[in-house]
Amino acid sequence: MRAISRDAVRALSAADLGGPRLADALDVFAAALGFSPRSHRVFAQGAAIRRHTEYRGFVGFGAFNESDKLVGFTYGYTSQPGLWWREQVAAEFSPAQRAAWLSDAFELVELHVHPAFQGQHLGSRLHDTLVAGVPNRTALLSVMHRSERARHLYFSRGWQVLLEDLRFDGEPATPFSVLGLGL
Ligand SMILES: CC(C)(COP(=O)(O)OP(=O)(O)OC[C@H]1O[C@@H](n2cnc3c(N)ncnc32)[C@H](O)[C@@H]1OP(=O)(O)O)[C@@H](O)C(=O)NCCC(=O)NCCS
Repeated sequence: MRAISRDAVRALSAADLGGPRLADALDVFAAALGFSPRSHRVFAQGAAIRRHTEYRGFVGFGAFNESDKLVGFTYGYTSQPGLWWREQVAAEFSPAQRAAWLSDAFELVELHVHPAFQGQHLGSRLHDTLVAGVPNRTALLSVMHRSERARHLYFSRGWQVLLEDLRFDGEPATPFSVLGLGL
């Protein structure tokens, strides 16, 4: 386990995440989820992150090691009709769920900590710092069934299951749960 200073979590701007910090963010993403750093999945993630940094309501935070290298990050943005993830989720929600959860929602899109820095509360701090500043009434995210540590983190912070098993277009073999948090 690598050492981290106590002031390691701070704001990560859209310009930084989509620009000079993007390569490190992709390294964290690949290592946290077990992808090869040069895989198509990670390349595609780079394009997705750049796109996401331009969405309304973007907020991001990074965790930095003692050399100021990005070792964890989280971000999200205001949920808007027409965005791909929202439409996939909305199609499975009941009318009551759509009214309760989508009318003023924040999408927590990514939360990852490099494995060499996990277990030092960086994930929790990133999560808590991001959520504390969300101006919306609700927050939403999807988490893989197999991401046990992430699920533990979310449930310990009041997230509830809205959809137990959602299969996204293009990834039908991977079960996700959709979680919601009232703010
Ligand atoms: C989920 C993730 C962000 C958590 O980051 P982290 O810095 O390791 O998290 P923390 O140290 O804050 O610990 C979070 C919780 O997991 C628990 N935990 C820590 N190490 C653990 C381990 N080895 N096994 C099980 N639980 C563990 C902690 O005890 C803590 O729970 P607590 O608040 O009840 O004590 C990180 O593990 C990760 O990047 N995972 C892979 C990517 C992923 O699944 N991202 C989420 C996508 S939705």
